[in-house]
Amino acid sequence: MISTFLYLSLCLLSTTSAFILRNKENIILIPTAAFRDHSKVPSTDWLLYNKGWYYEENNVQAKILEKSLELVVKKDLDNNRIKLFTAEGEKNKDLCVDGLNRSMCTKTDDEGRIKNTFQLTDAELKQFIQAEGNTAKLFYQASVPNRNIRATGEVYVCDDNGVTFISDIDDTIKITGVTSNTETLINTFSGEFKAVSGMSDIYQYWQKQYTATFAYLTASPDQLYPFLREFLDRENFPTGSYHMRHFTWLDKNFISFFMSSDYIKSKTDTIEMFINNTVNRTFVLIGDIFQKDPDIYAGIYAKYSSRIGKIFIRKYSNDETGQQRLEQVFKDIPKQKWGTFESGSDLPRDNFLV
Ligand SMILES: *[C@@H]1O[C@H](CO)[C@@H](O)[C@H](O)[C@H]1NC(C)=O
Ligand SMILES: *[C@@H]1O[C@H](CO)[C@@H](O)[C@H](O)[C@H]1NC(C)=O
Ligand SMILES: *[C@@H]1O[C@H](CO)[C@@H](O)[C@H](O)[C@H]1NC(C)=O
Repeated sequence: MISTFLYLSLCLLSTTSAFILRNKENIILIPTAAFRDHSKVPSTDWLLYNKGWYYEENNVQAKILEKSLELVVKKDLDNNRIKLFTAEGEKNKDLCVDGLNRSMCTKTDDEGRIKNTFQLTDAELKQFIQAEGNTAKLFYQASVPNRNIRATGEVYVCDDNGVTFISDIDDTIKITGVTSNTETLINTFSGEFKAVSGMSDIYQYWQKQYTATFAYLTASPDQLYPFLREFLDRENFPTGSYHMRHFTWLDKNFISFFMSSDYIKSKTDTIEMFINNTVNRTFVLIGDIFQKDPDIYAGIYAKYSSRIGKIFIRKYSNDETGQQRLEQVFKDIPKQKWGTFESGSDLPRDNFLV
């Protein structure tokens, strides 16, 4: 109901948007990962990719979405989030990428997105690498030719050995309430994002203890990236790569996008990308019971058991039905390989990689 209304209003209005004055344009670059190139043995090169979105805000559509949301959310709305959700991709536009000893220009696709793979030699990687705590990363820039529009992107180095924590965001580290449409809208468009207690403490501890890298894997659309990043930084979560979907109003309405299970394949592919591109890295998978994380993680475990150090699933401690569902979904996984938690303080600090 709610979502159909939002969708129809946006469709009607998009036809009039051509008449308004120039709207603000910008680039968002999503942090990605770099892996050794294993197509050559021994591997002497690295593969890294950039990922971004060049968009133009649409003030008219933003106003319409704001009016529609006011009816449902009944709280102060964050206009910056509304502006990104109603922005349109700049299709087939030139965008130049530099830094990393490479300079190249490319065109955005039909949704205004860019995704290119680069190859760097080991020597180049060593030259450009920057250490932040014990996380190794590289920076690059993307800009629109002849316009003052630019952004800085990050690439997190993920070598063959070591530990990566792959964490979901909504209802794993951030309170979203995905089981209710209204709660999801309220927690997406109004107020400060709220953290699940104790999660940033334990993630920071694990990062130091295991010299680990972090990858945030979420069904959320990349339009939320700047706000999620602000939230993770404010709450002191370790930095890392983000793996998100892209939402367009033409595809679907907002709620069905959030609720659809399309993300099962994209989340599975992302985890496989990490596993396939690293020879001997251990992965810890952290998610929640409220959507399909247990099923996705069980599927991964069935194929790559030796690479999975542990699976942690967030659920309410008194949720017996949830516990039974997990026992069923994880029936082929040894008991010591998975656990549940409600807040960060329920998670073990040491000696859980088995
Ligand atoms: C950077 O690129 C230049 C020219 O492509 C090359 O000569 C130089 O060796 C590269 N730097 C490193 C550290 O490989
Ligand atoms: C990972 O490798 C497996 C085969 O080992 C393949 O079936 C799968 O499609 C690969 N996935 C990705 C995302 O590369
Ligand atoms: C693989 O990782 C394990 C520990 O995670 C380590 O003991 C082993 O030496 C590694 N093997 C190779 C070939 O690097």
